[in-house]
Amino acid sequence: MTDMTLIRPDLDSLPAYVPGRAIPGAIKLASNEVALPPPAAVLAAIADAAAGGNRYPDLAVTGLSERLATELHVGQERIAVGCGSVSLCQQLVQISCRETTDEVIFAWRSFEAYPIVTQIGNARAVTVPLDGEFRHDLDAMAAAVTANTRLIFVCSPNNPTGTVVHREEFESFMAAVGPDVLVALDEAYHEYVTDPDAVDGIPLLDRHPNLVVLRTFSKAYRLAGLRVGYALCASPEIATALKKVCAPFSVSTLAQAGAIAALDNAGELLAACKEAVGERVRVRDALLAMGYTVPRTQANFVWVALGERTAAFAAHCLEQQTVIVRPFHPDGCRVTVTTPEEDDRFLEAARTFSG
Ligand SMILES: Cc1ncc(COP(=O)(O)O)c(C=O)c1O
Repeated sequence: MTDMTLIRPDLDSLPAYVPGRAIPGAIKLASNEVALPPPAAVLAAIADAAAGGNRYPDLAVTGLSERLATELHVGQERIAVGCGSVSLCQQLVQISCRETTDEVIFAWRSFEAYPIVTQIGNARAVTVPLDGEFRHDLDAMAAAVTANTRLIFVCSPNNPTGTVVHREEFESFMAAVGPDVLVALDEAYHEYVTDPDAVDGIPLLDRHPNLVVLRTFSKAYRLAGLRVGYALCASPEIATALKKVCAPFSVSTLAQAGAIAALDNAGELLAACKEAVGERVRVRDALLAMGYTVPRTQANFVWVALGERTAAFAAHCLEQQTVIVRPFHPDGCRVTVTTPEEDDRFLEAARTFSG
């Protein structure tokens, strides 16, 4: 129990963010990270930046914002960089919600941080179940909008199911929602998307004044440990608001330098994503052949729908092959795809599961 005089009592019911487990020597397929370290040139840039570690970082994140503006053709004044895109999720709640009656809509299951940042922001979470194919039910999400709705998270590809929202359905959704509710399209796994019909938020920013696109350097760019993500906003006003509520200096000098160097080395990093794309098809096909239910995925992970067998499956993977997967009991397990060797260890565990 929290001491009611010191701490807001509602934090008692706040679930802590559960990170993927890390066990020395085990194969970690629990956090959708890339197994390889950053390229040598990126490591060198981070080391160089560390030499200036006695100084505070550039608060305005100028160099990285300029670079993103050039690469993505989005004005620098419409970009807000954050300490990981999860921080920007929290900032989005902070800039849009004020009353305890304010509502944040998101699909469920989706990224486990959404309910947490919503509660931290004192707002009310409104969850809309995924459809029978583990996809966002955008019609139901639009229908859930009320006069109290302030923010909607749309996650594509969806963590943890890997399914994408299609461009046309997203356009209809935006039309149904209208311009008065902030919509955050979370594209943390954008670099792994190959479906030509999948939504890409950037070209839509000029058409929808309430749209924000979230991206990260944690996945394809292999900098999860440095904590850097960014929001591309329909308007400079949204970006400015996000910067106002950001903890000052939370994007470190190392993160800024590492992200710029990662963009310099994008060719190598993005080429490596193609391997994961091949692996996700191979892993899914193998699981389907074993009789598992696995939706088509556009991310660097697969979703194994296991229902009540979820916890037992995760325990079996660990015991049998020292492979750590991510259980979301009682729905299913999310498993990162990485190298053929690591993926084979997971598949072997799946093959021998009888629970
Ligand atoms: C859908 C989604 N959004 C955002 C994030 C947060 O990424 P980061 O804070 O590392 O940028 C994640 C991380 O797993 C994610 O899966």
